[in-house]
Formats: sequence, structure tokens, C-alpha cells
Amino acid sequence: MSDEPLVLGIETSCDETGVGIVHGQTLLVDTVASSVEEHARFGGVVPEVASRAHLEAMVPTIERACREAGVALRDLDAISVTSGPGLAGALLVGVASAKALAVALGKPLYGVNHLASHVAVDIVEHGPLPEPTMAMLVSGGHSSLLLVPDVTNDVRSLGATMDDAAGEAFDKVARVLGLPFPGGPHVDRAAREGNRIAIDFPRGLTTGRDMERHRFDFSFSGLKTAVARWVETRQRAGESVPVADVAASFQEAVVDVLTRKALLACKEHDVDHLLIGGGVAANSRLRALAEERCAKAGVTLRVPRPGLCTDNGAMVAALGAQMVAKGREPSDLGLPTDSSMPVTLVQA
Ligand code: KG4
Ligand code: ZN
Repeated sequence: MSDEPLVLGIETSCDETGVGIVHGQTLLVDTVASSVEEHARFGGVVPEVASRAHLEAMVPTIERACREAGVALRDLDAISVTSGPGLAGALLVGVASAKALAVALGKPLYGVNHLASHVAVDIVEHGPLPEPTMAMLVSGGHSSLLLVPDVTNDVRSLGATMDDAAGEAFDKVARVLGLPFPGGPHVDRAAREGNRIAIDFPRGLTTGRDMERHRFDFSFSGLKTAVARWVETRQRAGESVPVADVAASFQEAVVDVLTRKALLACKEHDVDHLLIGGGVAANSRLRALAEERCAKAGVTLRVPRPGLCTDNGAMVAALGAQMVAKGREPSDLGLPTDSSMPVTLVQA
């Protein structure tokens, strides 16, 4: 192999046990064991269930990743792991496993930020990141707009959600509409048959003073409540609920605000590359509207393939490989987990 770093990354911040191996900017394998089905009947991720599932999945997932990539653990140059943000117990399983591997193999350990990893993963899909890149991360746990001059040590937060994350809003609206968990893909599918201008749902934080004080922040909780009220009113009147129209109109309200603010951020910060990551980046309408608005604004859009947008180990390995390539110092072996690790801290 060339002298590019060979890095194994471990991700356990939520309900996916992800193990990926990256060689420089090349993805060798991305193995994910998910406990999502164990949470479905609760309508959300149960932290204790997730931690237990990580514990059971960790060793088999590492073994499978190495086998499929044809990599022996001793050949690795470094181990990287998500140290935050995320569920405390779930993070602990990943960090403890990474430390054990690093100590047993005598390899450097990099504790990295989950959000920066969502940005870095696009390197294995679309090549080096232009510096700076604008990144919008939208998932079940986070909705952030980030200015990224250097993904290994300079990530700046322009805005974030004030309440629900974008994916959380999708999941809650899905529940109101009687669709299964996680709701995002179901709302996306239902919306294809619906009219996105049927109902004029509110666009949070987009007018007047809000645009001064919360220019690049988001709020989806008012929208979620508006959808629930609208549906309740219909039900109380004994009328049927037009699921496809509600899904399409709700989805339009979310992706309209997301793309509008992301492109405004690009314009005001003079950035001509926009990267969208996180589970909600799989949304078909978000992709279409982002493409349309980016083309109009002369901004190049980068969206990793859906499997790399949701939580995975490849993203952690990709950031780890960047850290090694840029000569960043490894983390201390006493590396802590930090469930509310700030997005501006790339490495713990
Ligand atoms: O990144 P991810 O796998 O996990 C978190 O870190 O949260 O994102 C999962 C979230 C869920 O809320 C799910 O409903 C949402 O992403 N999602 C979608 C779509 N696919 C997944 N939301 C809207 N449209 C989709 N097609
Ligand atoms: Zn995530």
C-alpha cells in the first residue's frame, strides 16, 4: 500500500454501530449494524437499548469490516472514534473499544467530533473539500449550518436549530400522520403523491426580527405543532386527512427554510460550495430544491450518497485519515466522551 494513512473509524453516538476503514481518501469498507428496529415500538431511540446493542455488535462489526476490506488490525496507522456529541452511554462503548484497540495495537487514537465527521465523509465520495466549504447537517439529532475553513481544526457554527432537529420534526409529523418510525423516508414517499402548496404551513425564523437575531438558526417545533393542529381539526370535524398533501406541504416548509438559509449563508460568506449531510440529506425534495437553488446561485452542491449521510463508521475514519494526513497530534489515551461536545471542537 502507499504511504497514505490507513485508519479504522468507530461511530456509536446513536443507534448505529458503525465501523469504517479509509485509506487516505479511499473508502475500503463501511460496516453498519443498526438497532433501529429495537427502538421502533418506542417511537424513538432508547439510550439503554442502544448502548447494549453497541456492546453486542462491536466486536463482530470490527471483525467483519477488517475481513471485507482485507485489512489486518496490525496494518492500521490509527484508530479514530466519535467522542461526541451523542448519547453518553452509547459513546462510551465506542470510545472504550477504540482505546482498547489503540492500546493493544500500539496505534495512535483520535477522538473526533461526530458533526465534523458528517462533513469529512464527503471526501471519500467527491474528493478534497474546498476550503472553505459551507456545510448544512440535518438529521434526527442535529440541524446546523457550519462554515468549514478546515475540517480538521476550524469549524465555525453559523446557526443551529433552537428546538427540534429537522429529522425529529419529520419523525413527529410522521407519527401524527400514522406513518412508521423513523418517519422521514415515509413522509418523503407519501409526499411524492401530494401537493406541496396545498397547505401553507409556517416557515420558522424567516421574517423580520427573527432574521436579524436568528439569521442562520432554525426552528421546527412551531411547524410541527401547526401540522398536528391542522390534522386534529380535520379529524374533529369527521373529515379524512389528506396524508399526501399534508406530508408534501410540511416537507416543503422544512426544505424551503433549510435551502433558503443555506444559500443566504453561502452568499454572505462568499462560499461557492455547499455540502449537505445527515439522515435528512436523503430527502428527495431537499436534494431537488437544493440543486435548483444552488444552480441559480452558482454554488456547487455536494451531497454524499444516502448510506454515507446517515450515521456510519466511514465518516469517522475519513476524518481520522485527514487528521493523520495533516499531521495533527493524536488524542490522549484518557480521552473522555462528551455528549454535548461543541461543534467547534473538532478533536477531543
Ligand atoms: O443521520 P441519521 O441517520 O441519525 C441521526 O444522527 O439522527 O438521521 C436519521 C434521521 C431520522 O430523523 C429520519 O427520519 C431522517 O433522518 N430521514 C429522513 C429521510 N431519511 C432519513 N428525513 C426526511 N426524508 C428522508 N428521505
Ligand atoms: Zn449524525
